Amino acid sequence: MRTQVGIVGAGPAGLLLSHLLYLRGIESVVLEARTRDYVQERVRAGVLDQNTVDLLAETGLGERMKREGMVHYGIDLRFRGHGHRIDFHELTKGRSITIYSQAEVVKDLIDARLAAGGKVIFEARDVSIHNLEGPQPSIRFRVNGETTDLSCDFVAGCDGFHGICRTSVPNGILIAYEQTYPFAWLGILAQAPPSSQELVYSYHDRGFALLSMRTQQLSRLYLQCSPDELIENWSNDRIWQELHTRLACTDWKLTEGPIVQKGITGMRSFVVEPMQFGRFFLAGDAAHIVPPTGAKGLNLAVADVRVLAGGIAEYYCSGRNGLLDRYSEVCLRRIWKVQRFSSWMTSVLHRFNSDSGFEKKRQLAELDYVTSSRAASQCLAENYVGLPPDQY
Ligand code: FAD
Ligand code: PHB
Repeated sequence: MRTQVGIVGAGPAGLLLSHLLYLRGIESVVLEARTRDYVQERVRAGVLDQNTVDLLAETGLGERMKREGMVHYGIDLRFRGHGHRIDFHELTKGRSITIYSQAEVVKDLIDARLAAGGKVIFEARDVSIHNLEGPQPSIRFRVNGETTDLSCDFVAGCDGFHGICRTSVPNGILIAYEQTYPFAWLGILAQAPPSSQELVYSYHDRGFALLSMRTQQLSRLYLQCSPDELIENWSNDRIWQELHTRLACTDWKLTEGPIVQKGITGMRSFVVEPMQFGRFFLAGDAAHIVPPTGAKGLNLAVADVRVLAGGIAEYYCSGRNGLLDRYSEVCLRRIWKVQRFSSWMTSVLHRFNSDSGFEKKRQLAELDYVTSSRAASQCLAENYVGLPPDQY
């Protein structure tokens, strides 16, 4: 079996790369370990920044997003029991974010790929990468007990943080930079209308809380918890009680509803450099992870594949490797800025166990500054809606 670009992973990065290549007349095959239902139902990110929304719309994927997505022009930063709005629209010349879940983005992408005759192979087992150092790397996989070798001009590793792609690069090539955090997030989906029109990020003595949403009927809420917390220890009553306490604000009420999903997600910051080895490229969570506080993981994956698709298209059009050779450099400039922003949001809004009191005073001063200085609010706003697309 042969293709131009072999792609491992049918998450947002792999599927969007396949779609962008298709629009430029380049053939690809996407190999996914899980079933179609599994990847379409996985509860993950919910915030699309302006760059992601623009790219999806420009490439014919915007119809349902425009109809069903919720456009937000600001967020609420809550501390000491009061809300403070950061007005993205005013601070970023009209830019915004859209609430449209990752699951819906993945559904739209799969539908678009299959409608265009694209190859997405689900339940591909024992995926492994070969001939990485030669001109024709290949991917071996097994479907229904039958093993296939897929010979490619390029391979894209889009298989997330726990995939096999990153570790397929020979030892000594990649440098990993990592930071872990002494907390995790407990997240729920609840059948309740969102209690606020915009997202609420709340700093509280008992820990961070976030109110987000998926639709007008479905709320998504998070609580900072210990990284070794067991979900069994959190009854629905305990979760709601904690959310009421941490999100409390004058003249405001949290609406409860049946909890339909709950889980705990660890937090880390992680980057590998470079993101390329010969004709093998890493993109999205396979190459980097950000803590979710800046809502950037999915958006960063989209930014990577935009650059990668541009580089591969340049190669097939002109035979030049110019952009492909600069893939890591171009992506990493954005990635480190997003790492900076995500770790800053995380450090300002979460309680740290080690805090002697100084840290809390510093965080409150930071929140006071961010919500009272136009320059500081603008800094948050321009990062949250997405720094301008990479120039290359
Ligand atoms: P993924 O979405 O992880 O996709 C990788 C795909 O590769 C998966 O479908 C996987 O099944 C497949 N795969 C893995 N191994 C193999 C293999 N060996 N062979 C073939 N296929 C393989 N970001 C936010 O901005 N906000 C959030 O609220 C948020 N919540 C999150 C919650 C959780 C539990 C997790 C894990 C992540 C969350 N993120 C969030 C991050 C965001 O979802 C990711 O940044 C985004 O999914 C990255 O997309 P990706 O395509 O790079 O990787
Ligand atoms: C979400 O809706 O899942 C979400 C929103 C904002 C974040 C993280 C997650 O910062």
